[in-house]
Amino acid sequence: MTAQGKHAPELTALFPEFQSFLYEAAGIYFPLENRERLLGHVQARMDATGKRTPKEYLALLNTSRGRGSEQWAFFNQTTVNETFFFRDDVQFAVFKDKLLPELLQLRRRNRQRKLNILSAASSSGEEAYSLAILIQQQFPMEQNFVSITGVDINSDVIDRAKEGLYNRYSVRNCSPQQLGVYFTPEGDKYRVKPDVKQMVSFQVVNLIDPGSLRGLPRPDLILCRNALIYFDKESKLKVIQAFASVLQPHGTLILGRTESLFGLDHPFNLVHFLRSCGYRLKTK
Ligand SMILES: C[S@@+](CC[C@H](N)C(=O)[O-])C[C@H]1O[C@@H](n2cnc3c(N)ncnc32)[C@H](O)[C@@H]1O
Repeated sequence: MTAQGKHAPELTALFPEFQSFLYEAAGIYFPLENRERLLGHVQARMDATGKRTPKEYLALLNTSRGRGSEQWAFFNQTTVNETFFFRDDVQFAVFKDKLLPELLQLRRRNRQRKLNILSAASSSGEEAYSLAILIQQQFPMEQNFVSITGVDINSDVIDRAKEGLYNRYSVRNCSPQQLGVYFTPEGDKYRVKPDVKQMVSFQVVNLIDPGSLRGLPRPDLILCRNALIYFDKESKLKVIQAFASVLQPHGTLILGRTESLFGLDHPFNLVHFLRSCGYRLKTK
């Protein structure tokens, strides 16, 4: 223990370096008040990689490139992945009563093969599977015409999403009917059934990388909820511009209900739904 904090002075002194690394590589900003938390993550990765000094670990991070490298393990260590099924009743009511009926109708009218939904910063997949369940429940004739892609920077949570096995805490907002129809109990856990899974796929994607979404089908609906809170203004703008470059012209972007694009110079108009809102691209 030191007077400044609980970490060794040589580690504390390198806080700005680790802070900048994470900010530049992933857009995630750890302010000074969260210094001890970030240094705890660094210490955990130093222990895991056998690096004895923070300098050695920083050198490893700075030279690590490509999937599976230490850089990605550091992202896995530092991201906050809290999520659960049907998170935010108000927004799910908007999806059910407004957005999905409109988009599905438009898909049929335009003879579009699939309605594409992007669950950006999906964490372990609960949001993406909730949408698939909602579509199976409310629009059963459409389930083969909807494709949902979940993306996240954290490869551990993407592996969990692909597995589709959840504990009671994750499914606490599911009704008994939903649990009975769309999940198979496994011990004290619940596994998403194959016909729900077949609507959803997952990929590791760093939203800060320009062009990271280019390889995916152009989405009609983007959900990016409870993730922008970890970004500062500049990285928020990068992510929002990436969304704007792929979203269909008729599409909608939904953020978490406590998040907004206020103060950013962005290409969206705010649209109001009942007790919530979304963003649509300005027409040029
Ligand atoms: C709190 S979770 C939100 C999960 C879900 N959207 C929800 O609302 O329940 C935030 C997620 O953002 C992801 N994330 C943070 N930075 C990211 C980045 N640069 N690219 C992609 N995902 C990122 C984290 O890994 C984490 O899983």
